[in-house]
Amino acid sequence: MQVVILADGAAVADYGAKVFKQQIAQKPNSVLGLATGSTPLALYKRLIAAYQAAELSFAQVKTFNLDEYLGLAPEHPQSYRAFMQQHLFAHIDINPEHTYVPLGAAADPWQACMDYEQLILNVGGIDLQLLGLGRNGHIGFNEPTSSLQSRTRIKTLTAQTITDNARFFKAGEYQPHLSITMGIGTILEAKKIMLLATGSAKAPAVQALVEGPLSAVCPASALQLHPQAIVVVDEAAASALQ
Ligand code: F6R
Repeated sequence: MQVVILADGAAVADYGAKVFKQQIAQKPNSVLGLATGSTPLALYKRLIAAYQAAELSFAQVKTFNLDEYLGLAPEHPQSYRAFMQQHLFAHIDINPEHTYVPLGAAADPWQACMDYEQLILNVGGIDLQLLGLGRNGHIGFNEPTSSLQSRTRIKTLTAQTITDNARFFKAGEYQPHLSITMGIGTILEAKKIMLLATGSAKAPAVQALVEGPLSAVCPASALQLHPQAIVVVDEAAASALQ
């Protein structure tokens, strides 16, 4: 596992954008694994700017998002599908049919989980998986104690994650407590993984991920097993490293 420590969030986003640009330059039909949340927003802005400057094209790219709230339809404003439309897909030349997000409102969500795994297999697997990091060490919505071999499935969210994500919901608005998430085993099958983390609130989780024991208590520590994982953090997020 490679750890890159940079000055601030802008430098982390610049670095992440460079890795994505190199990936798409090397393989224009790359399969990209994507994340939602606050951390990737600056990276997505840079990718949109690069597309607008004709520096890269997503015309042949396919994307698979990590997770979705169970019960939220794609058109729901708080769905991760809507998030991706708003912050990336609507602004680039990707074929909408090549953007996959777990189907949170599927009639049979368990079947939708198995179908998602099959879809990833059908395109030859994920070339580059982007991850954020929960304060409790989660990746995707694989909360602490998730099996390190888990596959795409329905997962309960911890009270801490529900609180952390409440900022995306209006006061009184229904906030799901369940999700569909790629499993840790699914994530580890990506050919390359890049995790971004910024800010001092992530420092304990970054420490556990990089220096802690490999343990389901910190799901992100599973990246220690991956031969091509890169952890890109700013100085604040790196502040608890020994
Ligand atoms: C989102 C996801 C989550 C977030 C994590 C960090 O698709 O998979 O694991 O990456 O909760 O969220 P932020 O970036 O908002 O701190």
